[in-house]
Amino acid sequence: MSQHKQVKRVTTNTLLKMKAAGEKIAMLTAYDYSFARLIDEAGIDVILVGDSASNVMAGHETTLPITLDQMIYHAQSVIRGINHCLVIVDLPFGTYQSNSDNALASAIRIMKETGAHAVKLEGGAEVAESIKRIVSAGIPVMGHLGLTPQSIYKFGTYNVRAKEIAEADKLKEDALILQEAGCFGLVLEKIPAILAEAVTASLQIPTIGIGAGAGCDGQVLVMHDMLGINREFKPRFLRQYLQLHEQISEAVGNYVKDVKNKNFPLKEESY
Ligand code: KIV
Repeated sequence: MSQHKQVKRVTTNTLLKMKAAGEKIAMLTAYDYSFARLIDEAGIDVILVGDSASNVMAGHETTLPITLDQMIYHAQSVIRGINHCLVIVDLPFGTYQSNSDNALASAIRIMKETGAHAVKLEGGAEVAESIKRIVSAGIPVMGHLGLTPQSIYKFGTYNVRAKEIAEADKLKEDALILQEAGCFGLVLEKIPAILAEAVTASLQIPTIGIGAGAGCDGQVLVMHDMLGINREFKPRFLRQYLQLHEQISEAVGNYVKDVKNKNFPLKEESY
C-alpha cells in the first residue's frame, strides 16, 4: 500500500477546470523549504520557483545570472515543503534559448532532479518549437508574455509593455501560438488590463497576471514583495500584505539590545 498521504493535489488539469468554472487561481513565488511549507499550508494553488530568486535570494540586479543548478537547488527545497500545491520552476536565462535540444535537456534536468510538476519559460513564437519538444516529453509548460525580465536589456526598462497596437497584436498572436504549442497556462506580466482581459477571453488555457489587471484567470506576486521584505520596491501593481521589513528590523533590534544589556538569555531560558 502507498505510504503517501491522501491529499488532493493541484494539477495542471485543476487549473484548466478552475478557469472553466470561473474560480480564480492564486500563485506566489517561493524558493525555500520553510516558506513553501507555510504558503502551501495557507492554501496557495500554485508555487512558482521563479528566477526572481536571482533578485530576492541572491541580490542580483537582474534575473540573468541565476544558473540551472541554482534553480534546481531552490526547487528541491520547495518540493520538500509542499503537500498540495502545483510547483512550477522557471527555466533560467541561457538554458533554453539556443535550440530545442538545449530547452528539452534543461526541462528534463529540472523534472528529474527536483520532483517539480512543470516548467515555465519566457517568450512567444520564437520559443514555440522548444515548448512543443518539452511538452512531447510529457513535461507541462507554462508560457510568459509581456514584460519578460530575461529580455530586460532588449527592453531597456521595466515599464508596462504592449501599450502600442503593434506590440499588443504580436502579444495576442503569441498567446495563441503558445496555447497551440501545448502550454497549460500563461503568465502575463505588466501589460494593460484591457489587453490581458482580451487575451484571457481568447484562450482556453488560464492566464496568470502580475501587473495585468483583474481580468486574468489568476494572479501571481513575488512572495518577498507581497510580504514587504524589501522597503524600496513598491510598483503600482504590488499590494503589500505585511510590512515585514519594519517588523523584522524591530525584532532584530530588540534581540541585539537584549544581548548587549545581558537581558537574554534569562534563567528560565537556560539549562
Ligand atoms: O520569476 C518570477 O518571479 C516570475 C514572476 C514574476 C511571474 O516570473
